[in-house]
Amino acid sequence: MKNIKLAMPNFKEARMRLKEVPTIEYEMKDEYKKLGIGKTYHVFTYGCQGNEADSEVISGILEQMGYKRGDDPYTCDVVLLNTCAIRENAENRIWGVLGNLKGAKRENPDMLIGICGCMPQEENATKRLLETYSFVDLIFGTHNINSLPKLIYQAYLSKAKVVEVISGEGSILEHAPKIRESHHKAWVNIMYGCDEFCTYCIVPYTRGKERSRSKDEIIAEVKELVLNGYKEVTLLGQNVNAYGKDLGSDYTFGDLLYDLDKTGIERIRYTTSHPRDLDMKTIMAMAECKSVMPQLHLPVQSGDNEILKKMNRKYTYEEYMQKIEALKKAVPGISITTDIIVGFPNETEEQFQNTLKLVRNVGYEGAFTFIYSKREGTPAAKMEDSISDEEKRDRLHRLNELVNAGYLKGNQRFLNKEVLVLVDGESKNGEGMMCGYSEHLKLTHFKSNDLSLIGKIVKVRVTEAKTWFLIGELCE
Ligand code: 5AD
Ligand code: SF4
Repeated sequence: MKNIKLAMPNFKEARMRLKEVPTIEYEMKDEYKKLGIGKTYHVFTYGCQGNEADSEVISGILEQMGYKRGDDPYTCDVVLLNTCAIRENAENRIWGVLGNLKGAKRENPDMLIGICGCMPQEENATKRLLETYSFVDLIFGTHNINSLPKLIYQAYLSKAKVVEVISGEGSILEHAPKIRESHHKAWVNIMYGCDEFCTYCIVPYTRGKERSRSKDEIIAEVKELVLNGYKEVTLLGQNVNAYGKDLGSDYTFGDLLYDLDKTGIERIRYTTSHPRDLDMKTIMAMAECKSVMPQLHLPVQSGDNEILKKMNRKYTYEEYMQKIEALKKAVPGISITTDIIVGFPNETEEQFQNTLKLVRNVGYEGAFTFIYSKREGTPAAKMEDSISDEEKRDRLHRLNELVNAGYLKGNQRFLNKEVLVLVDGESKNGEGMMCGYSEHLKLTHFKSNDLSLIGKIVKVRVTEAKTWFLIGELCE
């Protein structure tokens, strides 16, 4: 198959942080609007909530082209993989799914297979895709979702592999169509990209420069969601606490929380936060705004000051603890969760012990824990590392034991108490059970088969607290 290479990824360009980023008003040319009529699509989504939100836009664009969502992904006319590059095992899963799709394409040669998201933004991944996965028709990145109709058109027209991966700062796409997965909970992007450059992380290269949406656009989107019956929004960004810094105004993330609280939305959550940028205004907004939920994901990565420095996290253990104390004081009973990496290059046992100490002192009610994964092109990839894989796995195991105890303790504090649950649907935890999330983001199952409760906030009395969830009874 011949290739149409419109642009290839380039890490040098991906590092650039110079230009103003444009805001692009979404529009679909008429010639693309009928391309998908009578055809089906499926989008596989991997990785963070940012990718989930992007997939909602991709689905919206495909449906505007006339495609309908297919029942079986392996028989659809267009299959897209929205990929994640954060760790090697995330990528390995995707290579595996590609293997399955190869068989499906043999059965159905007209199937159009596309790879998008973070993986194509890496030079090596795109090289491997081109060299080894010849059945992939379409490769595009995180910066050109709006080009999707054009790229599909070109792939159909030329029967060639179409590659367009734009590196650089990125842009802001406004007013693109979306097919939201839920009718009561919505992702709302408030900013894109990341300028933190933590030394282990690929995201600043794959997602571009930190760029905030205008506050008016965000507020208008949330107001519209309220009008459409949505109960909860999760504000999204790689570092939401840096919201507005790139716009050069004094309007900060805390101000945005106060303004969104006035829209009438019942619940506001946000992710992800960077501890250095979490400020007092945000903490006060959490205390004062009824709609901002008493729960925060505050990735710490390590409890050791030397490792934090090598990670370029720009805060110390002591500074992090000060913010935790301020949060606990302002929002009594707040549930705090985190991300932790073990086995950063040359992390000693003593440094790892400092992380365990921090976990005990904060009293996390949950954590995503990872073994450090080397990402080509990042500064940490060049650091010497003499710690064995076995040692790293052992550290992860010891950390997880502590973290799991925190999950359980966090759930046990709600035993025999009433919690307010936004109902998501039927529970997989047994017949006649439904589930949703409490204000503190605790997954809660309760006995009911009343589907009309979906999307409503109900009161549940907790009767059992397990490590991963609560069980309770509906209050009358
Ligand atoms: N190795 C392991 N974990 C990583 N994360 C980011 N990059 C890496 C990496 N190279 C983790 C961090 C981050 C979360 C989203 O993924 O903990 O907060
Ligand atoms: Fe990666 Fe650090 Fe940015 Fe988070 S803040 S996305 S860990 S560079």
